[in-house]
Amino acid sequence: MQHFSKRFHQKANAQLLQFHSSISFDKRLAKEDILGSLAHVKALFHAKILSAEEAEGIQRNLEEILGDMEHQNFLFSEEFEDIHMNIEHELIQRMGDVGKKLHTGRSRNDQIALDMKLFVRSELQNVTVLLQNLVKSLLALAEQHLETYMPAFTHLQKAQATTFAHYLMAYVEMFFRDIQKIKNTLELLNYCPLGSAALTGTTYPIDRNLTSSLLNFKAPTNNSLDSVSDRDYLLDAMHNFSLIMMHLSRFCEELILFSSQDYGYIEISDDFSTGSSIMPQKKNPDAAELIRGKTGRVFGHLFALFTTMKSLPLAYNKDLQEDKEAFFDSLDNTKACLSIFTAMVSKIQINKARMREACYQGYIEATDIADYLTAKGLPFRDAYAMVGAMVKDAHEENSVFQNWSLAKFQEYSPLFQKDIFQVISLESMISHRITLGSPKKENVILHIQKIKREL
Ligand code: ARG
Repeated sequence: MQHFSKRFHQKANAQLLQFHSSISFDKRLAKEDILGSLAHVKALFHAKILSAEEAEGIQRNLEEILGDMEHQNFLFSEEFEDIHMNIEHELIQRMGDVGKKLHTGRSRNDQIALDMKLFVRSELQNVTVLLQNLVKSLLALAEQHLETYMPAFTHLQKAQATTFAHYLMAYVEMFFRDIQKIKNTLELLNYCPLGSAALTGTTYPIDRNLTSSLLNFKAPTNNSLDSVSDRDYLLDAMHNFSLIMMHLSRFCEELILFSSQDYGYIEISDDFSTGSSIMPQKKNPDAAELIRGKTGRVFGHLFALFTTMKSLPLAYNKDLQEDKEAFFDSLDNTKACLSIFTAMVSKIQINKARMREACYQGYIEATDIADYLTAKGLPFRDAYAMVGAMVKDAHEENSVFQNWSLAKFQEYSPLFQKDIFQVISLESMISHRITLGSPKKENVILHIQKIKREL
């Protein structure tokens, strides 16, 4: 920044100018920069630093610049290194010397801290809407599949029966937590840094409570050194994005598995699949894979910013400029992934018959049979051992419990009676899972209603 300065003997090196210029990416903050300046002008007027006429003039010109930007009628100039200098220069061009008063009692250090907070605040609201849309789609899908039975896995081995609705509601929980975490991030960041100036505040009587409330913050920040160097709220937001991506990625991994020929539980619609350039039969789940893949870069940006921050002395250092591209890329990818995933998941086809059939392989009735024997008086550990032996034999004979006769069950224990067939039906295995949070239909309905109320 040498434009207005007489401090230097030499012009800045051309390569340096290009190297440290941020206008190519911080122009995204144009609106926030102007909103911040409009509040600052009011504070300057209030402090009698600007006359009413001067304040109105600056305000009108800033609003016109914003209008031009919104109509794509504004050319950002590479000659000015960042968004702040671009707008300030334009203001001076348009209104002359009065424009030079805007930067009184302010620094680009509190300016950028404010711009980023305003930007993050509004974008986190957009991400929340995308999460809400996803949750709504999953709720609608869950409501259709309260009685669609499928195996649930531990260690990716079939474990017990569940329903597709219960499975989907596990992801609803994750995305609902993401919404709540974003709310926490928004609450913590909602303090206004404007008025901290370069690092130790200013000698002008700027009313920080005024600017804070004009910009809808809860209060001004408490310490000017921290205000201009704090990027915790970006790390919080990028951590929120990382969690969202991790949840999406786990979901994608399962959709990829479940849509493979060997599972065949679901089919991803043609418009969210791609082909192969050589294998004519291929229908690949590229969208899901790409979301899983992009998770890596979102995690990466979080760690990059942590690393940038870790040894920074107070207060502002130019390193902080590195926050922007990392944040923007994380944000853009998280939003794109949420939106494409929502569209994709709302259109998946569910193969109920295949899911049901899968429940009859893998002896997922084993725990239910052990519980049955226990209810009839056998200590659980003995029942557990007996069913283990039954599984071993069934496996060796290549049979499944659903095809066993009563006589076959009774070879293991006289406790087995005709009611065993009812107990190992899928309907009964689910309806007897009575604890809160289980796949029992009534429980899942309660969960769906709860989320709908709280959404
Ligand atoms: N482009 C800078 C950034 O993103 C703005 C603040 C510049 N402040 C300074 N003292 N060089 O951090």
